Amino acid sequence: MRLILHIREMQSWSEAERRAGKRVALVPTMGFLHEGHLSLVREGSGRADRVIASLFVNPKQFAPNEDYRNYPRDFERDRALLEREGVDILFHPSAEEMYREGHHTHVEVEKLDRFLCGAFRPGHFRGVTTVVAKLLNIVRPHVAIFGTKDYQQLQIIRRMVEDLNFDIEIVGQPIVREKDGLAMSSRNAYLSAPERQAALCLHRSLKKAESLVRHGEREGGRILSAVKEELEKEPLARIEYVSLCDPRSLEELESIRDQALLALAVWVGRARLIDNTVLTA
Ligand code: PAF
Repeated sequence: MRLILHIREMQSWSEAERRAGKRVALVPTMGFLHEGHLSLVREGSGRADRVIASLFVNPKQFAPNEDYRNYPRDFERDRALLEREGVDILFHPSAEEMYREGHHTHVEVEKLDRFLCGAFRPGHFRGVTTVVAKLLNIVRPHVAIFGTKDYQQLQIIRRMVEDLNFDIEIVGQPIVREKDGLAMSSRNAYLSAPERQAALCLHRSLKKAESLVRHGEREGGRILSAVKEELEKEPLARIEYVSLCDPRSLEELESIRDQALLALAVWVGRARLIDNTVLTA
């Protein structure tokens, strides 16, 4: 696996591969990798001849009060994991390389960023779409793979790619969970042992909603109350939001007709955890 630190070098490597007729996949990450990321890499390997993983903790998607400085980092471990997965290139630019002096251009997907996490993290998705647009332009992959744990992020990226005519296939991969149901996340590293146990309430509450829908419940209010009740049983958890919404537009739904996204953000200690499930009537 080759390590590339500079944009120019990344661009010329990709250009040469494309010219040689190779299909290129990009897996964008912020590092501190877990099985969820590795499942994206494996998906990329199955869909392309060359796999590039980017590792860049993007300062633009963190508000000043958020965890940019303390975001977990372990470059050598990440490098070894990617090498073991057969990744061809690890693209690891510095913040100075990505945002040169005088950088003033941002990409914003309107409307979809108003809901869910967007309502609580102003500017977050603008930072995400800006860096993803840059990565897509630098790497010029045929396909890019993202996880569905960040469901809203994936929808926003799909919208951006469609609206700005990036000729790139965007693939979403299912959430990877620990054996006990906790969705894998780099931020799980913030959890103490009792908090790790408390964090199971997210998955439990989603399971409860799935079971209600399986037994015929369609009314949004009753589903949301049941989910909140489950989360509130856990004293270490603090709900940021629980939302039942249209899986494409992300607009709130009163009831489930065919499919609905149930998405939640919950603080456990200093970890802000998100999870979701698509409920099918
Ligand atoms: O999901 C993430 O890890 C990040 O938001 C992404 C897509 C790599 C952009 O920084």
